Amino acid sequence: MPPELFTGLTNIAAGGRLAEAIKLLFCANLKPPQQEFRIQAMIQEHNTKKIDLEWNDDDVVPAVVYPNLDFLFQQMLNLTLEEVGPNPGELILDVGCGRAIDGARLWEKGAQVVGLEPSRVMLVRAKEYLSQSNSRVALAQGIGENLPFKPHSFNKVMCKGALDHFLSPGQTMEEIARVLKPDGEMIISIANFNSLGFRWGKRLYPVTKFLAPSLAKERKPWELPPDHKYKFDYPFLSNLVKQHFEIKKTKGISLFFGLPLWGSFLSRLPHFVSYALLKILDKLVRPFPSLADVILMKCSPIDKPG
Ligand SMILES: C[S@@+](CC[C@H](N)C(=O)[O-])C[C@H]1O[C@@H](n2cnc3c(N)ncnc32)[C@H](O)[C@@H]1O
Repeated sequence: MPPELFTGLTNIAAGGRLAEAIKLLFCANLKPPQQEFRIQAMIQEHNTKKIDLEWNDDDVVPAVVYPNLDFLFQQMLNLTLEEVGPNPGELILDVGCGRAIDGARLWEKGAQVVGLEPSRVMLVRAKEYLSQSNSRVALAQGIGENLPFKPHSFNKVMCKGALDHFLSPGQTMEEIARVLKPDGEMIISIANFNSLGFRWGKRLYPVTKFLAPSLAKERKPWELPPDHKYKFDYPFLSNLVKQHFEIKKTKGISLFFGLPLWGSFLSRLPHFVSYALLKILDKLVRPFPSLADVILMKCSPIDKPG
């Protein structure tokens, strides 16, 4: 970690409302007992007893990855990072950073990155990933609903595939608006539970279940996974964001993810054919985020009087 970044982050932490609770877990400097005490204090103070500090990503990727899921993950990552558009020297916060893989990509482009994450399991995995990849991302244990940073600290805040896990996405929006510089930007990408794929999937489900009875044993993709707290769709996300932000840009990513049997159909095609098909659908849905599998939004904070 370059000394100037360390100083910068220390300054942010020192003046924050929850300065006592912040843990800037620099890669080589984890102090578990102290961290543990502080995160517990923060969670108690915020009355968020249901935060899963042991959450892990073991079940995020299924045993068999069909081309549509692989494509969806790739496009979500590429387009989110493209929209963040890191510039050298910018300070970027990744809320719900998981393994900090995305943060490392931003750091490679010259940005100074802080990854915020409540789960101690994911923080350990992030630390491992960062040391293996020789990347530098400052890790902080904390929650989006109560960001332990001074107002106007960050040039950009990103939150990828995470907001539907949070207890209070609304409060998180307020906090992100607070810690962003007035000319800063927030970039969110999130699964759309009212996508065209899910809507058609529900309708076609009786037929597809008849064709492939094994589908009945699996969780339906449009059902809320056990570790999610909210089902997002375009109106829900827009209304949430508009309380504190002006929406500058929206994009749709990937189409028809949830269609039953679509993934296994694609896996039987030659690789270049399935990916060409997925690319065409993805391009078609770009201007229609309410239909897409993932919604991408870029926003700037509203200048509130007082
Ligand atoms: C599906 S993972 C996404 C991780 C990463 N952003 C990515 O795209 O790979 C969701 C992450 O959000 C974290 N999380 C859950 N509740 C949170 C909260 N209230 N504030 C911040 N992060 C939270 C989880 O611990 C988890 O690591």
